[in-house]
Amino acid sequence: MNQLSFLPAIIFLLIAVWFAWRYYGLRRSIKRAAQSVREQKKGLPHSPEVDELFSAIESLKTTFNEKLFALNAGNERLATMLDQLTDGVIIADADGRVQFANPAARKLFGTQQPLQQSVAQMMRNHQLIEAWKRCQQTRQMQIESVELPTRKQFLQLTAIPDKHEGGSLLLAQDLTHVRRLEAVRRDFISNVSHELRTPLASLKALTETLQNGALSDPDAGPRFLNRIHTEVDALTQMTQELLDLSRIESGQVQLNFESMSPRKLIYSAAERMKAQIERANLKLIVQCEDGLPAIHVDKGRLEQVLVNLIHNAVKFTKPGGQICLEVEAGDGGVRFAVRDTGIGIPSESLSRIFERFYRVDSSRAGSGTGLGLSISRHIVEAHGGNIWAESDEGRGSAFYFLIPHQM
Ligand SMILES: Nc1ncnc2c1ncn2[C@@H]1O[C@H](COP(=O)(O)OP(=O)(O)OP(=O)(O)O)[C@@H](O)[C@H]1O
Ligand SMILES: [Mg+2]
Repeated sequence: MNQLSFLPAIIFLLIAVWFAWRYYGLRRSIKRAAQSVREQKKGLPHSPEVDELFSAIESLKTTFNEKLFALNAGNERLATMLDQLTDGVIIADADGRVQFANPAARKLFGTQQPLQQSVAQMMRNHQLIEAWKRCQQTRQMQIESVELPTRKQFLQLTAIPDKHEGGSLLLAQDLTHVRRLEAVRRDFISNVSHELRTPLASLKALTETLQNGALSDPDAGPRFLNRIHTEVDALTQMTQELLDLSRIESGQVQLNFESMSPRKLIYSAAERMKAQIERANLKLIVQCEDGLPAIHVDKGRLEQVLVNLIHNAVKFTKPGGQICLEVEAGDGGVRFAVRDTGIGIPSESLSRIFERFYRVDSSRAGSGTGLGLSISRHIVEAHGGNIWAESDEGRGSAFYFLIPHQM
């Protein structure tokens, strides 16, 4: 009876000892497992509980690694993007110290080591620094455009407040190219309107004179009508040239390349201009080197270049003069030349005559719209070639263009 009364206590003790033994065993295993995880060792003590814990840790590790990999890939993508971006990106902290600047920003502001410099040191422009300060004070986005005359640059700075760090993100864009294009467009429009005004004013005056009685005058009537005809022709030619130029410049013109003998090309252009040359009382000489290889060109377009050059030679050469067309082997291609014994071009204008609307002197006899050479340059360049001019003022000019051999 007495012995039996101790039984539950003994059982309880045995269970307690068993649990204690399990508990200490488990603690030891977990401690060793934790040590192995910390030291990243392999070969862990095996027990079902530790195995389970370990599989949970492993799955956590896999998820963590996947997230880390995705984060790293994202960071790398962002870094490449910032490296390749043509706009400058600067990150500054709350004190205005530069924390990050991409290569474009370093180039725009001409600094190699901007990190830890102040924004003011990096940007060195009063207006831009003020815009950044305004952004810091108001915590509102600020946009500022400035012209840097020493560097002939237009910059636009966008300062965006960084909500978390109290600093700012600065975006610097180089608008020089855009501004230049805007200026070219403005010039172009004013040039075109100017060119249109003169013939339109003449047409209006001529039609008014006809309306006021000249129409019934057997002598003056046809004369005025003839002048109207000439003005309309000039307008039509100008519109055609403008259209050609805009098509060529915007790359809309599809060149139809074909293999062509240079001799055939130059004789074909000469044939087209023969009547005009004779009418202007000029002598034409055509010289073609033997054995020239065929060239790969758009026949129609290249003939147009030759016609433009011959047309100029006719316009700017006095009667009795001479025009010489030549074709010979040049450096890496076939070189065409159109020489005249005309009035020539002043040396300061030589580099500008290929600009659209440029004329040496618009009051010169024969001056047109000033588009012919610009169109010719575009056509030659579309063939991978180049065009240039030489002149001895008062004695004549020579225009050359080189069409490279096909690669
Ligand atoms: N052979 C040349 N001799 C002298 N000046 C020339 C000659 N060719 C061109 N020029 C000068 O270059 C300018 C530009 O020539 P371009 O052919 O572009 O225009 P244009 O002949 O005046 O007009 P367009 O060709 O549009 O009818 C001419 O206005 C002229 O001043
Ligand atoms: Mg011309």
